[in-house]
Amino acid sequence: MEYSLFLFVLVVVILLLRRCRRRTRRNNNHRPPRANLVAFLVNGHRFLDWSTTLLAAAPASTMEVYGPLGSGHRGVTTANPAVVEHIVRGNFHNYVKGDRIKTAFADLLGDDGIFLADGRRWILQRKLASYSFSPRVIRRFAARVVGDQLRRRLLPFFAAAADDGRVFDLQDLLRRFTFDNICSFAFGVDHDSSSAAMEGGGDRRDSAFFAAFDDAVDISFGRILHPTTVVWKVMKLLDVGSERRLRRAIAVVDEYVTTIMADSSEQRRRRCSDEEEEEPDDLLSRFTAAMEEDDGDGDGELGEMFSSPAAKQLFLRDTVKTFAVAAVEDTYYDELKKMHYLHASITETMRLYPPVPMASRVAAAGDVLPDGTAVEAGWFADYSSYAMGRMKSIWGEDCGEFRPERWLNGDAGGGEFVGVDAARYPVFHGGPRSCLGKEMAYVQMKAVADAVIRRFAVEVVAPPRHEMAVTLRMKGGLRVRVSRRRAVSSGMGRLGHVIDGPSAS
Ligand code: HEM
Repeated sequence: MEYSLFLFVLVVVILLLRRCRRRTRRNNNHRPPRANLVAFLVNGHRFLDWSTTLLAAAPASTMEVYGPLGSGHRGVTTANPAVVEHIVRGNFHNYVKGDRIKTAFADLLGDDGIFLADGRRWILQRKLASYSFSPRVIRRFAARVVGDQLRRRLLPFFAAAADDGRVFDLQDLLRRFTFDNICSFAFGVDHDSSSAAMEGGGDRRDSAFFAAFDDAVDISFGRILHPTTVVWKVMKLLDVGSERRLRRAIAVVDEYVTTIMADSSEQRRRRCSDEEEEEPDDLLSRFTAAMEEDDGDGDGELGEMFSSPAAKQLFLRDTVKTFAVAAVEDTYYDELKKMHYLHASITETMRLYPPVPMASRVAAAGDVLPDGTAVEAGWFADYSSYAMGRMKSIWGEDCGEFRPERWLNGDAGGGEFVGVDAARYPVFHGGPRSCLGKEMAYVQMKAVADAVIRRFAVEVVAPPRHEMAVTLRMKGGLRVRVSRRRAVSSGMGRLGHVIDGPSAS
């Protein structure tokens, strides 16, 4: 009896001490509002809007989130620019990708790729990949990849759809187009899934890959939302339910990626035998060279991190999958750069509908955020770009309105685009891990919008609703009908020449 009493007192004392320790670590006894992860799950179908309301009501736009009965994942979610700046830049080294995301996505992407890696492995890949995003490469990407694929594939598809009045899924088409662009830039292969889609359904392998990829990403993402990892780990062990679907989806993705890699190495072999051709600078060639311990910089540290040829090959395959996720001569690029209103419109669209609505990190050590919130080691630290785009405190009373002019410095929309810092607009993240493909993504979006909107009127058949996944997307796609505009080529100057080809000018 005495022994039980002693144990009971001991436990109470330990709990009180732990509580005191936490309190003293908290700055000014600041405690943000708390939300139970279970409530998050209940509101899963409208998660982004629901969490935006909570964050807008929180005094410092930061919330503490805890699992059922205080268990499971625990952390903070914020929409406060000072906190975002602290996480992505100020205390960058303390906020790592960590095991929460890595464990969930490792089966699909491997845990060594640039999106999931931390520390030295990430630094080496970032350095290697950044050569492939140089201004020179982006110029060539605009001219040879985007312009060329617009002319050969996307615009003919739109013309045919306008002529026969068919309704099609614009979201799916643009996704395939982006994928083909990235295959060309990153792996040096001329893949064609977008004009195949034109013939209705297209190549079955492409469609199977896209479906499997979506499924695999969604299930991997769903793993993060489980209150505890035990549930999905047991399902994986038993090979049942969503885990069984994931295993099958990954098999489809891997087979497809292996074909892309074979095509890529064939292209590389051909280029090597043709002495006239310039050095390949696509991303996969750079990574392959690094695996062969000759990355062109004289240091093969990344290659040395993988012990066997098989491990190197697996890493290359994961690199292909990683970049698949992200999924016009020189003057064309300059013309695109001058389109300030279009740039502002796209930026404004992503303010309200950020493609990556939330980003997540894990605190390596305990920390106090700039708003006084205490974070313990191992807690997740998320920020919501979606909520931040809708905060009156950041954008003013008209934060809910689509108003591209807010990004222009002149009157009546005539001025030049002026951006804001990543802390207020973290759509492409910020700091040392900011998006490498930002410039490239703008090139794609502006080129497609410019070429399509000039030529075609686009009518949305059914108003879309967005759904939350790793990336924001429209539920069931975007069903549209298009019709030709009259006299499109007039006034297009050099841009028309690039898209329509020399004969059109
Ligand atoms: C509108 C289009 C895009 C948006 C909004 C976007 C947004 C982002 C965001 C938010 C991150 C940080 C994710 C995180 O670490 O939590 C990121 C990282 C990254 N993005 Fe993008 N991205 C876009 C397009 C692209 C494209 C087209 C590419 C490449 C072809 C690309 C390549 C990358 C890479 C390599 C990283 C990892 C950087 C690192 O960890 O060092 N992105 N992107």
